[in-house]
Amino acid sequence: MSPTMIAPVVVEENNKYQKGVKHLCDNGLTKVPTKYIWPEPDRPIFTKSDKLTKPKQNLKLPIIDFNELLGPNRSHVLRTIAEACETYGFFQVVNHGMEGDVSRNMIEVCKKFFELPYEERSKYMTSDMSAPVRYGTSFNQNKDNVFCWRDFLKLYAHPLPDYLPYWPSSPSDFRSLAATYATETKEMFEMMVKAIMESLEIDGDDNEAAKELKEGSQMVVVNCYPPCPEPELTLGMPPHSDYGFLTLLLQDDVEGLQILYRDEWVTIDPIPGSFVINVGDHLEIFSNGRYKSVLHRVLVNSTKPRISVASLHSFPLTSVVKPSPKLIDEHNPSQYMDTDFATFLQYISTREPKWKNFLESRKIHHL
Ligand code: OGA
Ligand code: NI
Repeated sequence: MSPTMIAPVVVEENNKYQKGVKHLCDNGLTKVPTKYIWPEPDRPIFTKSDKLTKPKQNLKLPIIDFNELLGPNRSHVLRTIAEACETYGFFQVVNHGMEGDVSRNMIEVCKKFFELPYEERSKYMTSDMSAPVRYGTSFNQNKDNVFCWRDFLKLYAHPLPDYLPYWPSSPSDFRSLAATYATETKEMFEMMVKAIMESLEIDGDDNEAAKELKEGSQMVVVNCYPPCPEPELTLGMPPHSDYGFLTLLLQDDVEGLQILYRDEWVTIDPIPGSFVINVGDHLEIFSNGRYKSVLHRVLVNSTKPRISVASLHSFPLTSVVKPSPKLIDEHNPSQYMDTDFATFLQYISTREPKWKNFLESRKIHHL
């Protein structure tokens, strides 16, 4: 059937889903539309029998206390970070220096943004991936066959003065609260980079990579997962790895994030006020495979809306992403091809960035 022959009712249906999950729910919903129903093997396991035979066990990720990191126990904490990045690709941080008000205000103002009328939110809808602000739904709404139960707002955040004028002007305090949040998250990221470099035993002083990362890109992604009438049929986010160096994730008190650990999906227990930090593809490559960029996904639930804010930090667009020369020698050959950002962007514009396709495509298979 040629595009001109698609029945108007089908076009109308598709447009409805393009407007996002919040819009769909605001109009009343008792069942999950077919568009959001995942094939059975991909669905979360929520069955009653599963709950009976296998009590739900959430994963307690290693907890890094920033105060300890900056004190006499630093070397011990660095070892814990290294082990967490090798084993889980994830850890949580507490006492990270961000005031509780800054993170709480960010969550609150983001909630208010998603409660604005659709017409206000949709001002930021665009398919232009390089737009400074992008509002959208699902994972990749132009390509996904099955949709995810998620709406998002993506904000480019570094250098901040270049992007701030484009950020939403409503709610009226959105820009100032989100700007404070982005700036403080960037500072936390820089402290984490220092620690990560040290944990890899790469000296701090003339560290080119750390300098590049300071100038690198930061994208703040606000995720909104409305309550779902049939959460066992769908996903908030499909299995994916994050492409950058590190992601700093703030969640509200509603659980939903799962990581793949020993071939099983395990739920991360939210610790109020903490950050979840995870290794991205760039760091897996940079560490020559020692630190793992681990698959994760998001489940939704039937009662509570969930908000999370992910801050993704990457090398600059002009950098070549490659294993650190300090970790490579004749006994430790490079495991990944050098990749510039253009190659990466080309890849995600032509292929589904789900699973770990991209990272796999960069691996060198030594015989
Ligand atoms: C992401 C992500 C997890 C969450 O934004 O890349 O994995 O809990 N978010 O929302
Ligand atoms: Ni992610």
